[in-house]
Amino acid sequence: MPHFAQRMKTMEKSAQIIRNLFGAMNDPNLISFGGGAPAREALPIDIVREIVNDVMRVDKRGVEGLQYGSVKGLPDLREVVVSELLAPKGIEAKADNILITSGGLEGINLLCQLFIDPGDVILVESPTFVHCVEIFEMFQAKCISVAMDDDGMVAEDLEEKIRKHNPKMVYVIPTFHNPTGRTLSLERRKRIAELGSEYDVLILEDDPYRDIRYSGSELKPIKAFDRTGHTVLANSFSKIFSPGSRLGYVLADDAVSSKLCDAKSATNSHTSMLPQVICAEFFKRGYYPAHHRMICDLYRERRDTMIDCIDRFFPEGTKRTFPDGGLFTWAELPGGIDTTELLVESTGNPAVKVAFVAGEGFFIEGGGMGRNCMRLSFGAVSPEKIRIGAERLGNLIRSRLK
Ligand SMILES: Cc1ncc(COP(=O)(O)O)c(C=O)c1O
Repeated sequence: MPHFAQRMKTMEKSAQIIRNLFGAMNDPNLISFGGGAPAREALPIDIVREIVNDVMRVDKRGVEGLQYGSVKGLPDLREVVVSELLAPKGIEAKADNILITSGGLEGINLLCQLFIDPGDVILVESPTFVHCVEIFEMFQAKCISVAMDDDGMVAEDLEEKIRKHNPKMVYVIPTFHNPTGRTLSLERRKRIAELGSEYDVLILEDDPYRDIRYSGSELKPIKAFDRTGHTVLANSFSKIFSPGSRLGYVLADDAVSSKLCDAKSATNSHTSMLPQVICAEFFKRGYYPAHHRMICDLYRERRDTMIDCIDRFFPEGTKRTFPDGGLFTWAELPGGIDTTELLVESTGNPAVKVAFVAGEGFFIEGGGMGRNCMRLSFGAVSPEKIRIGAERLGNLIRSRLK
């Protein structure tokens, strides 16, 4: 066997974390607060069945779905992004500046292809989304963490780290952050956009949860405050349409947008056409507003149930976030409980059988950071199961404290 490329060694640690994090979660007897998948009920199966049938009856659309397409993506889907997803959030964009990607993650991967050389520094939130750390490490970047509080990434710490480490990129998940569910304040959104321009650093705004807000008021994306093209917005259809369709998009100003197309062309020519056609039809036929209301109602009820159950069943001294959208809450446990150990017991003990994601893996710093934390995903679990699972988990934690 020839030697693997150097990058496979660099990414081994984060790849292992991901394998460990999600390894135990396929047991059907488990109540899983682990993965980040949307609810089964949030997948528009009946609508897609109707669209697929129609599309395959209309010759031109059927051919479009099965033929090669353009690097940038299906024109009507790019128009949908501009008019239905960006304009309502205060972003005036041209469809020409949208690139349709194979899931949100591909956008992040392509941006690394454009900007990251081995050894470049990427600043990330502490904690952050491990899957992106895996991508950054595959590009042999050096990830350095920036402090977070309840209002998201701390802008003062960001500026200090920019000065100290001269990064190429800042990776930020501003809305209903994964794993904490926190949202970056308006003031910090403006400041982070300014810092990108001031210090000539790329701000990679990864915002896949933004569209599932079910309480509180809208905040403009960081991109809305970018005057110099230093912020690039990556987003996804995974949480509002379907993750299996693998659709996402990137909005970037002209210079970056054109290079993104080159990288996309060299990677996979373009995103699969049939999912793009189906997704564009889903929006153009006017299904999105009612579907969006339905999923927001569904997740709001699950969030409320999860928060209520944490408050009732987890021990005194537990801190948790209150997300206004998205799929996750984050809990910090009292009494020095190690959640990595707790997970072994909570998934293995037949009287508990509850999974979550232990906090430690989300912190690139290591050294025990986040050891008393857990990410609890409520999106794909029915309220009834949330009640049962949270009570069992709460009882287990209490018994450990004793
Ligand atoms: C923060 C964050 N970014 C990006 C993604 C990628 O989403 P996808 O590739 O499914 O579109 C996810 C998915 O869970 C995520 O949580």
